[in-house]
Amino acid sequence: MTTANKKLSSARLTQPTNKFVEEFTASVQFDQRMFRQDIRGSIAHATMLAEVKVLTNDERDQIIAGLQQIEQEIENDEFEWSIAQEDVHMNIEARLISLIGEVGKKLHTGRSRNDQVATDVRLYLRDMIEPINHQLSRLQEALLNVAEREADTIMPGFTHLQTAQPVTFGHHMMAWYEMLVRDAERLDDCAKRVDSMPLGAAALAGTTFPIDREVTAKLLGFERICQNSLDAVSDRDFAIEFNSFASILMMHLSRFSEELIIWSSAQFDFVDLGDAFCTGSSIMPQKKNPDVPELIRGKTSRVYGNMFNLLTLMKNQPLAYNKDNQEDKEPLFDTIDTLLGSLRVYADMMGAITVKADNMRQAALRGYATATDLADYLVRKGTPFRDAHEVVGLSVAYGIKHKKDLSELSLEELQQFSAHIEQDVFEVLTLEGSVAARDHLGGTAPNQVRKAIQKARTNR
Ligand code: ARG
Repeated sequence: MTTANKKLSSARLTQPTNKFVEEFTASVQFDQRMFRQDIRGSIAHATMLAEVKVLTNDERDQIIAGLQQIEQEIENDEFEWSIAQEDVHMNIEARLISLIGEVGKKLHTGRSRNDQVATDVRLYLRDMIEPINHQLSRLQEALLNVAEREADTIMPGFTHLQTAQPVTFGHHMMAWYEMLVRDAERLDDCAKRVDSMPLGAAALAGTTFPIDREVTAKLLGFERICQNSLDAVSDRDFAIEFNSFASILMMHLSRFSEELIIWSSAQFDFVDLGDAFCTGSSIMPQKKNPDVPELIRGKTSRVYGNMFNLLTLMKNQPLAYNKDNQEDKEPLFDTIDTLLGSLRVYADMMGAITVKADNMRQAALRGYATATDLADYLVRKGTPFRDAHEVVGLSVAYGIKHKKDLSELSLEELQQFSAHIEQDVFEVLTLEGSVAARDHLGGTAPNQVRKAIQKARTNR
């Protein structure tokens, strides 16, 4: 990065910018990643200007050829970025002028960096929503596959992290899946508001040139056009909305991670995350640490931080553009990068997970997971639920005292607590009986899990 070039925007100023101020106010270090969008926006702008006769066709063609060459230079890492040119927009414009001369100076007619940068950020985010969607969909697919494979696998379901009732692992995976369906919907919804074009707002009030914003919007593939020039250059709520989608999604990934971390501990030992997704310890030879889920749980805080960053950035800004807005990029880019990386690694990791069905089953057998089933059984035999609840409470206390699960108590032992208990009780006291009995929409029965998977696949 050099600092040598002559500035494009400083004729009014008599003193040169303080060197440190120049560096301090520059954004090219981080906004250069929008070079493709900046060039695409400029090509559309020049094409529109020629269409409304502000540029000749020849001028337009020279500008477009110059911009295309610059894009190549940047792609090939031959472009010399300059701090003195402040940002991606001025760097490209300065290079255009040095490449094609006088005609290059006409590109910025009827435009300002204010509507240019707002357009670039929207284009960039729009371009990134696609790969994010793709990674999200890969993760959903991975979850469906695990759910399908483990539709019959029984684990203890928890409330308060205490054994509650048996559930199927497939059902648990489909709970995660449901959260991601809502995340995908939120992303789709946010994408609509990202897809609105600020270009044409110029600095803040519009321009005196006879621009045609419909033409530019069409060239750039924008669904909508920002309807008010002041709002167009200063609105960043599309970025905040994206970050709130991202925060909720990361919150979900963080919850999943918390479960994976617990499940892969020696105490639970429900899953194996695969060596490729874990690391060892530099001192303790026995360790296999769940680094990936831990790191995702940690990275969730970055995305929340970015959310707060953007909200706070906007809360005191009067209309229209303020230089504060330059600070929107780093949090937004960081959220995009974090999300893309987290989703990608999660999809890969869930594709490689192995489930330790025996351990889950053993755990479900401890902790009286079928106690509610016994209560429901008694209700079906005519006992009011509150009474049934008490009978089962006493049975569990007896079981704990004699170190036996409910299913291990004899009929005689159970009958001490209720005369309504008969031989058929053992069907409901098994784990399989318990999960299979919850056979309705949204229930944990393997049958319902398979239906849910099928429904999910047809809706995809
Ligand atoms: N680098 C600036 C930003 O990111 C571009 C817009 C600057 N406009 C201005 N009037 N100083 O916001």
